[in-house]
Amino acid sequence: MKVVNSIKELRSHINTWKRRGHEIGLVPTMGYLHEGHKSLINAASDDNSKVVVSIFVNPIQFGANEDLDSYPRDIERDSKICEAAGADLIFNPSPEEMYGENFSTYIDVEGLTEELCGAKRPGHFRGVCTVVSKLFNIVNPTRAYFGEKDAQQLAVIKRMVADLNFDIEIIGCPIVREEDGLAKSSRNTYLSEEERKASLVLNRSLLKAKSALKEGIKDSDKLVQIISQELNKEPLAKIDYIEIVDSTSLKPVKNIDRPVLVAIAIYIGKTRLIDNFIFQ
Ligand code: PAF
Repeated sequence: MKVVNSIKELRSHINTWKRRGHEIGLVPTMGYLHEGHKSLINAASDDNSKVVVSIFVNPIQFGANEDLDSYPRDIERDSKICEAAGADLIFNPSPEEMYGENFSTYIDVEGLTEELCGAKRPGHFRGVCTVVSKLFNIVNPTRAYFGEKDAQQLAVIKRMVADLNFDIEIIGCPIVREEDGLAKSSRNTYLSEEERKASLVLNRSLLKAKSALKEGIKDSDKLVQIISQELNKEPLAKIDYIEIVDSTSLKPVKNIDRPVLVAIAIYIGKTRLIDNFIFQ
């Protein structure tokens, strides 16, 4: 597995591939890969003749009190996972390589970033959109792959790609879960044994919400109440947000008469976990 750290070297591989007529799939990640990332790499290698996985813990999408320094990193472990999943190359730049001296250009997507995680993590999506645009410009992929667990991120990136005319197809891939239902996340490694058990409340509360919707509940306040009652049964869980929003505009929905995204963020101890589903 080739691991490339410089933009110049990456571009030379990309140019050779493009000249030879390859279609390139990009899987942007922050590393410490799990089954969810594997499913993105698998999808990219099914659709494209070359696959680039970027591994970069992007400092500008972390808030001052967030886990930038403790975010798990292990490039050797990640290389093996990428190779087994069908990637051709890992792009693993340093922060200095990505953000040279005097870096001062940022991408802000308005409208979709004020709610949900955007409200709780100011500046987060600005950081995500800036780094993803840079990766798009550096790799120039045919397609790029993102997980549906970060539903707001996926919606924001689709908006940015449409608004800025990136000629890239954005593919959303389904949430991958542990056998007991917890959505796979690099941050799950922070959980102690007790916290890991407690984290199951996240998926349990979403399943309750799904049943309520299937039974015909239309009032989003009632649905939020059902979810929060379930979450409050778990003493280690602290609710960050519970939101029922239009699945495209991400604006809050009062009466559930259209496809909605039901999205939750909770803290288990110091670890922030998110999960969601879309109800058509
Ligand atoms: O979803 C992630 O891991 C990150 O937000 C991304 C898209 C790789 C940008 O840093």
